[in-house]
Amino acid sequence: MIRVALLGATGSIGASALAIAREFRDRIRLVSLAAGSKDEALVAAAEEFGVSRIALGDPAAASRARRSFRGEVGEGIPGVDALASDPEADVVVNALVGSAGLDATVTALRSGKRVALANKESVVVAGELLAALAERHGGRILPVDSEHGGLHQCLLERDPASVRRVILTASGGPFLRRDLATLGRATPEEVLRHPTWSMGARITVDSATLVNKGFEIIEARWLFGIEPARIEVLIHPQSIAHGLVEFIDGSVIAQLSCPDMRLPLLYALSFPERWESSLPRLDLARLGSLEFETPEPARSPGLALARRALERGGTTPAVLNAADEEAVRLFLQGSIGFTDLTRLVDEVLEEHVPAGPLSLESIAAADRWARARLADLAAPRARR
Ligand SMILES: NC(=O)c1ccc[n+]([C@@H]2O[C@H](COP(=O)([O-])OP(=O)(O)OC[C@H]3O[C@@H](n4cnc5c(N)ncnc54)[C@H](OP(=O)(O)O)[C@@H]3O)[C@@H](O)[C@H]2O)c1
Repeated sequence: MIRVALLGATGSIGASALAIAREFRDRIRLVSLAAGSKDEALVAAAEEFGVSRIALGDPAAASRARRSFRGEVGEGIPGVDALASDPEADVVVNALVGSAGLDATVTALRSGKRVALANKESVVVAGELLAALAERHGGRILPVDSEHGGLHQCLLERDPASVRRVILTASGGPFLRRDLATLGRATPEEVLRHPTWSMGARITVDSATLVNKGFEIIEARWLFGIEPARIEVLIHPQSIAHGLVEFIDGSVIAQLSCPDMRLPLLYALSFPERWESSLPRLDLARLGSLEFETPEPARSPGLALARRALERGGTTPAVLNAADEEAVRLFLQGSIGFTDLTRLVDEVLEEHVPAGPLSLESIAAADRWARARLADLAAPRARR
């Protein structure tokens, strides 16, 4: 029986994690749950799984939950963090979205836990620090991203020197074939209609700009210790082959499965075992063909942004993440256009001068600066 703290239980990944916990009640015991502001959904999940500790990031939601829930209710960052270091939990599933997830990843690794990490932003902004923390305290990160879960299965403990390159696939998002001249008019509704994955709002917007795939290049860099020049991206509209590894002898090993986030979650929780599941099976004959193509730079600005952030290093990836998070928020509220989004992030990235050694403090300062700078640069566009 593994004991699990699930952070971000009310989100898209959270729902998949609850589904896995429901299917494997004999192997997984949820010991605590956290969310941001959806107290009713969180309390309902806690009652379903007999969980007695919950936390809500939003203090008002925590107050409401205290009126309806008999167990312990933490609040704010300290409340969520307390669950990440809970001695009752063997594994922390971090399915929080955005920068809000970093503290929990750090706390869980400092407590020597296995982290099933969906919150890729943690690795983007602090990958180097997290690898060191895991090593020092005996913790471990298992990726909950279909591409990195796939790469993990292809690589396992193989010698990094035997790897020529790794390939991450991208569906290409909703605008793969759209006339480029009309991209500036793309609405939030169109952007949120992802062709193959059903996900939270931020990652869906990031999939349309390919900032999400850019984040995944950074994620692969730190999770697998592979230098950026050997991490490639291919457009694969069917989202069936998730991660591929080419070895120095010319062999390519790929991980294939239906596009369903419950599988990478199950893998991260069951590893190194495999548990028999009822998840959808892949029917290749029915699919008929799998297509791959090189990303067009004009449709994938997020890739170049991420490579530049990696190259400059230090706090630059934290600036990329925070500026993007802010730009996505402004786009979704209708204040800026779709093509403004990455253009503004680019401007913020260009202005940033990475200072001093990377630390949690310098990351937090860079995050604050990037949000404020992006808001300043967006203001004239937002008034139009
Ligand atoms: N969705 C996918 O298929 C997918 C695939 C790969 C990786 N990921 C990664 O997984 C993470 C989660 O994505 P998602 O799509 O599941 O996002 P989502 O649907 O927006 O869910 C986010 C979760 O985080 C909680 N949350 C947000 N801010 C919080 C705060 N300050 N304190 C405590 N909880 C907070 C939300 O609570 P409320 O609901 O109460 O606001 C919700 O439970 C992201 O890092 C994403 O990049 C997602």
